[in-house]
Amino acid sequence: MLNGSKIGALVEPVMRGQSGGMSRNIYDNQEFFDGYSQLPRSQGGLAEAPEWPAVRALLPDLRGARILDLGCGFGAFDRWAIEQGATSVVAIDLSQRMLARARDLTASDKIRYLHGDLADLAAFPGEFDLIYSALAFHYIADFAALCRNMRQRLQDSGCLVATLEHPIYTAPVDPQWLELEDGRTVWPLDGYLQEGLRVTNWIAPGVEKYHRTMGSYFQTLQENGFVVRSLVEWAPDAQQRADHPEWAREVHRPMFLLLRADAV
Ligand SMILES: C[S@@+](CC[C@H](N)C(=O)[O-])C[C@H]1O[C@@H](n2cnc3c(N)ncnc32)[C@H](O)[C@@H]1O
Repeated sequence: MLNGSKIGALVEPVMRGQSGGMSRNIYDNQEFFDGYSQLPRSQGGLAEAPEWPAVRALLPDLRGARILDLGCGFGAFDRWAIEQGATSVVAIDLSQRMLARARDLTASDKIRYLHGDLADLAAFPGEFDLIYSALAFHYIADFAALCRNMRQRLQDSGCLVATLEHPIYTAPVDPQWLELEDGRTVWPLDGYLQEGLRVTNWIAPGVEKYHRTMGSYFQTLQENGFVVRSLVEWAPDAQQRADHPEWAREVHRPMFLLLRADAV
């Protein structure tokens, strides 16, 4: 964790894309990267992502699939997909540090890790059976443009499977649990209908992300060539709560939204 005194040291690289778009690149900040690398899911991969079994249930048969992974991070999903019989994976990420770690961890030559900005997906042609993305869409300002670009890269029977930060999680201006005097723990939901930029303190101060409502995600996908087949508001199950008592409060608000949307 960084403390406030290091705020001035946080100089985030900005990637300017061919279309003129630009995305903040906090993952290439050394302190942020070091903090992110300590998270259980960074160290243990899919097995340490508690929502993974629910995500896996949304995936199609991967045998023979050509996959595009948007915001691939350390590439855990990509290596797993090849083990499941996928033919190829193109994995894109904005962060050179994340990509370097992914390449170090990967032996398969069926995975191509590419440096790029999801805001400029138009720069990456190709046709895919599955587009996968975990916890990256909230960094993108223009979700409609991303949906259009994703649809153009999917074949007609293809689908999108994505994990998002849930809109109830992204909405608050100051997103942290409140302990009330009567002993209840509550999640401060405000600003839900005010879409747009949020600046949060997560691992480092000043992390930029974008809030959109549930309806907006649904509508934007439907308007850009997808039909939403599944929406899952993830919560830890009884076994996970027993294994991790500290997750008990997760029943008060969904942290993740999982979705599957098929191309139409
Ligand atoms: C929370 S991590 C998730 C990584 C991986 N999908 C996983 O589930 O382990 C978010 C990833 O999205 C990447 N990212 C953020 N903004 C991006 C952008 N505009 N274009 C491409 N990748 C981006 C980050 O560099 C980071 O690797």
